[in-house]
Amino acid sequence: MSLINTRWAFNVSNWKPTEEQVLAISSFIQPEEKQRISRFVFQKDAKSSLIGRLLIRKYLGAVTDIPYQNIKVGRDKLGKPYLLGGGDLAVDFNVSHQADFVVLAGNTKQKIGIDVMKTEPLVGKDVVEFFRLMRRQFTDAEWLKIESYKTEAEKLASFYRTWCLKESYVKNRGIGVAAFPLDTLSFFICEELKQGEIITSTKLKEKNILKDYVFEETILDESYIVAVALENTNTYVREDAPFIFLTIDDLLNDAKSLSGPDPGFVRDFLGKKEKPY
Ligand SMILES: CC(C)(COP(=O)(O)OP(=O)(O)OC[C@H]1O[C@@H](n2cnc3c(N)ncnc32)[C@H](O)[C@@H]1OP(=O)(O)O)[C@@H](O)C(=O)NCCC(=O)NCCS
Repeated sequence: MSLINTRWAFNVSNWKPTEEQVLAISSFIQPEEKQRISRFVFQKDAKSSLIGRLLIRKYLGAVTDIPYQNIKVGRDKLGKPYLLGGGDLAVDFNVSHQADFVVLAGNTKQKIGIDVMKTEPLVGKDVVEFFRLMRRQFTDAEWLKIESYKTEAEKLASFYRTWCLKESYVKNRGIGVAAFPLDTLSFFICEELKQGEIITSTKLKEKNILKDYVFEETILDESYIVAVALENTNTYVREDAPFIFLTIDDLLNDAKSLSGPDPGFVRDFLGKKEKPY
């Protein structure tokens, strides 16, 4: 496993949590994160958030000398998780979740942001109208690229790709999308995504100035793409490491208890509703 560039993915739809697993997990995560997870109405959202916590703890356990029980993850004022008490340790990580997937990107040299995006067809929505509503979030150059494709499916795929890139950048910077003028970012895509390959040729201009960033773009599976934004092209080490798909056992095997098991958390978690689709 490369620790300079860690890329992990977890498919939450494949995991049917057992009481025993959730009881164990209730002792592996920080109390404030349990409270946060308890606030989700649907189990799927709670599961994704929980897996995000376990991915972060596993990553920090692997990449630092801090014992698992002493790893403390804080959140900055806009919610971005970071390692508390890491001192001079140059370690950064970010998670993203959507629908079936939770992904983590970690790095020991550069600031990082990640976004996973489901590239689903627009059921019951008109693409033209959808693009009209989104018009202000993209630049003219980006729309030219999106509209250059022949079919609606290809246009939509290009739209999702550009959106995913924007989110990865905003998440790298740790700023919120709501307050950020996304049309000041213009992505220049010159290569198509290919299954099993990492594309790094996409460039970004912010307010017309070329940014010193690398964007790694990957097809995670047939319906999901991922973008990872890394600051500073000089320190970028390209390792061609694809995403590694982890199982629940991978996340639980090296976990250690921070506190006693919490049956109340388990009852609440397993009692959450299934998400209606
Ligand atoms: C960060 C943000 C862009 C992510 O949006 P998203 O695409 O819906 O969600 P993703 O699944 O990709 O990412 C969510 C994860 O990113 C991380 N995250 C949260 N805030 C983040 C931020 N500001 N920057 C980077 N990562 C962040 C978290 O790990 C979060 O998962 P978790 O809450 O389960 O731990 C969006 O939530 C946002 O704009 N947040 C800012 C909120 C804000 O402005 N608050 C102001 C009031 S204090």
